[in-house]
Amino acid sequence: MYFASSILLAALVGIAQAQTPSGFTPSVDTKLDVLFNSTAVNTPGQQLTKAVTASQPQIAISSSAIASNDTYMFVMLDLDVPPTEGNSTRRVLLHAMNTGFKATQQKIGGSAVLLASSEKGPATYLGPSPPATDTIAHRYVQLLFQQPSTLQVQASDFADTQARINFNINSFMQTNGVSAPIAGNFFTVDGRAGATASGTATASGGISRNTLQPFEGAAGRVDLSLGLAGLLGGLALVAV
Ligand SMILES: *[C@@H]1O[C@H](CO)[C@@H](O)[C@H](O)[C@H]1NC(C)=O
Ligand SMILES: *[C@@H]1O[C@H](CO)[C@@H](O)[C@H](O)[C@H]1NC(C)=O
Ligand SMILES: *[C@@H]1O[C@H](CO)[C@@H](O)[C@H](O)[C@H]1NC(C)=O
Repeated sequence: MYFASSILLAALVGIAQAQTPSGFTPSVDTKLDVLFNSTAVNTPGQQLTKAVTASQPQIAISSSAIASNDTYMFVMLDLDVPPTEGNSTRRVLLHAMNTGFKATQQKIGGSAVLLASSEKGPATYLGPSPPATDTIAHRYVQLLFQQPSTLQVQASDFADTQARINFNINSFMQTNGVSAPIAGNFFTVDGRAGATASGTATASGGISRNTLQPFEGAAGRVDLSLGLAGLLGGLALVAV
């Protein structure tokens, strides 16, 4: 009875739904708007393609959830990297850690404001690249944190994939005095050929190349109609 009435109560008061995957910590209820060109992650866990998610997304958040003068940090994790041989535990890969985000004047769909940063790291964005040989779609979690003024992170800390694999966000938060995330979201990408309607999965097998591209979000006003094409220039580096 208690259980049933709790559910009823939850329904009545509209208790917020976690934006992060079930069982993942830190969990967060406030939605981070994650926008890949014209494709937004509308519902947590929505499946997207490698092609759509290949370049750094733009991020936005309800203006009531942030302070106009504060600095924020964006983190993206793959929770489902296949285990090493003889081990059944999937691993976490840090796909992005980008510091220096500030609220812009640009509104997106009502009360959300676009956040932008002129910084590209310390961990530049790696596009999702789940293996074509995998058995599941991978979950990619995005988190927005308030960035402590004392934060000491450098690109050299995340120079190669070895430095990004088995990344532990909870340890990172504890070590660096980072508070609970302000907002989050997640999407999935399935690497298996034919797994997606738009057929962007490649059959190359194993770990394929990721594209690293700089994010130049602070370089003036962002025109969403142009999408990231108008924002991002530059060199594509090859990783993994
Ligand atoms: C934000 O920064 C501006 C410019 O430095 C300052 O005038 C304003 O008081 C600050 N607002 C808050 C809430 O700290
Ligand atoms: C299996 O992999 C996980 C994730 O990398 C690791 O934490 C764990 O120590 C590994 N277990 C063994 C027995 O190697
Ligand atoms: C999104 O924008 C990036 C950056 O210009 C571009 O490379 C990519 O092809 C675009 N993706 C889609 C699906 O249009």
